[in-house]
Amino acid sequence: MNSITRGDALELIHRVSDSSIDLIVCDGPYGVTTNRWDNVACSIQEYNLQLIKLFSSKLKIGGSLYLFGKSDCIDFIDYRPYLYLRRKIIWFQPSRLSQGKTNYTNNYDLICFFTKGSKANIFNLDAIRIPQLVDLTHRNRCEKVPSVTNGTWGKTKFNDMGKNPGDVWGDIKQLTYKSKELVSRDALNTIQKPEELIKRLIFASSDEGDLVLDPFTGTGTCPALCARYGRDYIAFEMDKNYVRESRKRVAKELYLKRQIKLKRDRDLFNEENLYANNKSNYQGA
Ligand SMILES: C[S@@+](CC[C@H](N)C(=O)[O-])C[C@H]1O[C@@H](n2cnc3c(N)ncnc32)[C@H](O)[C@@H]1O
Repeated sequence: MNSITRGDALELIHRVSDSSIDLIVCDGPYGVTTNRWDNVACSIQEYNLQLIKLFSSKLKIGGSLYLFGKSDCIDFIDYRPYLYLRRKIIWFQPSRLSQGKTNYTNNYDLICFFTKGSKANIFNLDAIRIPQLVDLTHRNRCEKVPSVTNGTWGKTKFNDMGKNPGDVWGDIKQLTYKSKELVSRDALNTIQKPEELIKRLIFASSDEGDLVLDPFTGTGTCPALCARYGRDYIAFEMDKNYVRESRKRVAKELYLKRQIKLKRDRDLFNEENLYANNKSNYQGA
């Protein structure tokens, strides 16, 4: 726990205890490029079915799995005996170059959201709300005009904390060469995901102290965020360079976290001294 292990995820997963995991973030091979990391021996659908079977025994009842892939990544496979598909989320990337000449260009990745059983243990909607982005006149009109929900009249209520992000996510951009969080140029095109994206999954489907499994950790986005936000994690990666990179990233997070805690303790200590001095001055007066 809380380490990144080098090796094949399909073998290492057998070391994980059954029914022990709260959340799995599975950003593995897509089976679409000739990169070594993206290679699978069978079709990507068969590969994903194999993963779904393995993951289902490792998840707690009500635990969540987010499986990344292209639009057809779970087509024509029967995952239903193992996990319940709650939603297919489209991660829309309008910035992708539209180079298709004989077909419509693919502009999204799919994130399949599954749970073990039909009820999710955790769905922290308030932690992942996004701005409403409606103008005030429209909002005022909606809040005054009655609307029908399930046959009863009510007024539309806007939540000041924002809205549910829905299942088409166009608000989180892919990383580019200029992104500060990019660990290396090599990580681009192929793999590194934006922190905002992985953070949304972690915040929605886990609480502090929960156990997150990241079987294909790449540059370590998920374990770094787990370290930052107080989740435990188990992470696997087969590429030694990425293992090194991701361990460095986690170490940096832990260092920053320690610095923040030290500063907080120092501030508290100074504040308490100040309070004690003022109190004795006051009593002396
Ligand atoms: C899409 S990337 C993950 C990117 C990661 N989410 C990030 O933000 O950096 C997939 C990773 O899975 C690794 N991988 C592919 N097959 C694997 C396997 N069988 N076992 C372990 N790691 C594997 C690849 O080396 C690659 O780094």
